[in-house]
Amino acid sequence: MKAIIPVAGYGTRLKPHTDRYQKTLLPVAGKLALDHIIEPLLEAGINDLCFIVGHFKEQVIEHVKKYEGNFSFVEQKERLGLGHAILTGLEESDEPTLVQLGDTIFDVNIADFISSEENVIGIYGVDDPTRFGVVDISDDKINGFYEKHPNPPSNLAISGLYFFNNQNILKKAIEELITKQITTNNEYQITDALQLMVQNGEPFKAYDTPDIYDVGVPETFLYSNRKLLQSQHDEFPTSKIIEPVFIGKNCIIEESIIGPYVTIMDNCSITNSKIEDSIILENSSIDDQSIIGKIAAKDGTESC
Ligand code: UTP
Repeated sequence: MKAIIPVAGYGTRLKPHTDRYQKTLLPVAGKLALDHIIEPLLEAGINDLCFIVGHFKEQVIEHVKKYEGNFSFVEQKERLGLGHAILTGLEESDEPTLVQLGDTIFDVNIADFISSEENVIGIYGVDDPTRFGVVDISDDKINGFYEKHPNPPSNLAISGLYFFNNQNILKKAIEELITKQITTNNEYQITDALQLMVQNGEPFKAYDTPDIYDVGVPETFLYSNRKLLQSQHDEFPTSKIIEPVFIGKNCIIEESIIGPYVTIMDNCSITNSKIEDSIILENSSIDDQSIIGKIAAKDGTESC
């Protein structure tokens, strides 16, 4: 089966890092977000991966070369929203497809998720449903979809993992959005296409995906790092390491306190510093600083 992974977005909420990197290529818990996405798909036997690329597209193409699979790259020429991005990867085919957002990591049984005859939408409970695409359900049947609605019918948000049993039906629904110029916040939203499909009688099932790790904004990015982190590092005799901590290759760590919940990527130098609950991007050189609750790069001042 094919999986579509949209990774074209600008990632403005993770600036300044997304001025240099595609958002999905930022590290969380010792590997890049995209690795956390690709590896479970390949393990579940889904080798046919279609990446929707745009912002820093060549970085994505280069990065996935380390995997073996049937990979394709389709360029989304304009950033017109997630619905539009997914449309660029859909074919006029009755084959099923999985869609996973490029900024959302799941701990989920993929084989079970795609085993349904119906369309399946991953959902999870959120505190403020007005910021999300939300479903109205009875038992696990979805009756309606609401994108960033002021009075959402539930606190069950769409998590970013979707299974469509016939990609052509989804394709037609997104094309209808575009023809009728149906937008939310000036973007063609997948949620609005799903609502058209429900109105046309397409059956949808909700699937609980509580173990979701969103890497779209700094706060949830650091939460994901805390939750997914597994300790892995060399010994650094002059420094104190408070687990869990991941430290990549070729790092110099001297006279520092590192941890808990820290990822430091390759080729970094950290001296006389305290780093806690943070992610340090590759090739950073940090001296005499205290970095807490940040994604930081270069000399540590480039952060969010
Ligand atoms: P987001 O809207 O969260 O990503 O889309 P973004 O636009 O990059 O982020 P901000 O709002 O500027 O901070 C979720 C996923 O869909 C992709 C993004 O790359 C991300 O993986 N996407 C979104 C596209 O591929 N194209 C789009 O037009 C919009």
